[in-house]
Amino acid sequence: MGLLSEKAMCNTHGQDSLYFAGWEEYEKNPYDEVKNPTGVIQMGLAENQLSFDLLESWLANNQDTASFKKDGQSIFRELALFQDYHGLPAFKKAMVEFMSEIRGNKVTFDQNKLVLTAGATAANETLIFCLAGKGDAILLPTPYYPGFDRDLKWRTGVEIVPIQCTSSNNFQITAPALEQAYQDAQNRNLKVKGVLVTNPSNPLGTTISRSELNLLLSFITSKGIHLISDEIYSGTVFNSPGFVSIMEVLKDKKCENREVSNRVHIVYSLSKDLGLPGFRVGAVYSNDEMVVSAATKMSSFGLVSSQTQYLLSALLSNKKFTKNYISENQKRLKHRQKQLVKGLEKAGISCLKSNAGLFCWVNMKHLLKSNTSEAEMELWRRIVYDVKLNISPGSSCHCTEPGWFRVCFANMSEATLNLAMDRLKTFVDSTTNTRSQSSHQLLKSLRKNSHTKWVFRLSFDALHDREPDER
Ligand SMILES: Cc1ncc(COP(=O)(O)O)c(C=O)c1O
Repeated sequence: MGLLSEKAMCNTHGQDSLYFAGWEEYEKNPYDEVKNPTGVIQMGLAENQLSFDLLESWLANNQDTASFKKDGQSIFRELALFQDYHGLPAFKKAMVEFMSEIRGNKVTFDQNKLVLTAGATAANETLIFCLAGKGDAILLPTPYYPGFDRDLKWRTGVEIVPIQCTSSNNFQITAPALEQAYQDAQNRNLKVKGVLVTNPSNPLGTTISRSELNLLLSFITSKGIHLISDEIYSGTVFNSPGFVSIMEVLKDKKCENREVSNRVHIVYSLSKDLGLPGFRVGAVYSNDEMVVSAATKMSSFGLVSSQTQYLLSALLSNKKFTKNYISENQKRLKHRQKQLVKGLEKAGISCLKSNAGLFCWVNMKHLLKSNTSEAEMELWRRIVYDVKLNISPGSSCHCTEPGWFRVCFANMSEATLNLAMDRLKTFVDSTTNTRSQSSHQLLKSLRKNSHTKWVFRLSFDALHDREPDER
């Protein structure tokens, strides 16, 4: 044990989070329509499998590229040797054009400001490594992607200080919440280096509004700190209001050439929009030359393989393909999200109105035995172990209000999603029946034993998780 480093042994990695515990349960007993129909359905994984056929048909029509040929000649040797950490220029060009296309070409990106990384995981860590260190804090709105505890904190020594957002305003970021987080960090003797947001949000499945982005920009301007916008889900926006990138806000506010623009950085990846997390393609985009230079040096630790760059540069430069892919993928996500919302409604469950992402932020407060995180944990266990659906509890996303869960919808077939919703409905019906039966039995026994009226009222309210005077 003593032979391992302090960093390897420290628990900021977050591997013990319930977010990962649910995955383990799924891996032990994965659902399969034929081989294991009673297994665990994976709804905790933000994967996009809805548009694979489009990618596969492109590959089938571009066999030469897929087998590493250029103009009929093999470029295997060239690719096998290429390891320049600046990346293939053709790929970087294709990436920035794709990023622009996703933003409706309202903003353009300069490929010289793009640093390629092995996914957004590496991009986030690289960026944090460049901007902050031990004793520094990054402010993050809650609820947030559980992987950030690992990506931002573990190797850099940076602390995350939460910006508390609540259901009272649909988890929007407010000025008092930002100020409070800043103050909290200072009270912990931490130097605030920046704010990190995910836009669209994981786990909320919503885009950040223009007014929130304006607020964030003025906040980082007044405090002289950085803003990192993780826009990994930018291509998944399927409903209005549309996606507004922080780069668009900088442009609209004519801040592009102001000093503050050097403190605004974007993280991107093809893991969600193209559904290619296995390819490990991500990027840091920054206006600050020093950040680009440091991140480029850092990228040696997590380069994108040259054959991947070669293949994807051909795919992304095909404008006919990208145009069709972007709109078709959004259409499919919209349809699938609707299916989930409908299934949840049938089970008497509501969720935050969403317009993006691969998941919904689902409200199951009414199924909790009490308004506590312990009750959330208990419900989560029943859903994973009894109902056999792996969903992510809100507490794993640092949500302070018990009863919220993230439920993914794009990593399975429609039939599997319907089955998951049937299982959930059966569970909710039985829970509600058990509860009303037990309150009914209680009523009967209380009457039989002629207890006083107030004892009955208190017990009934307790069963229904209600304050006695809340009528
Ligand atoms: C907000 C956010 N950032 C980063 C990542 C990591 O993505 P990648 O697979 O590109 O490393 C994820 C993955 O779920 C995510 O949701």
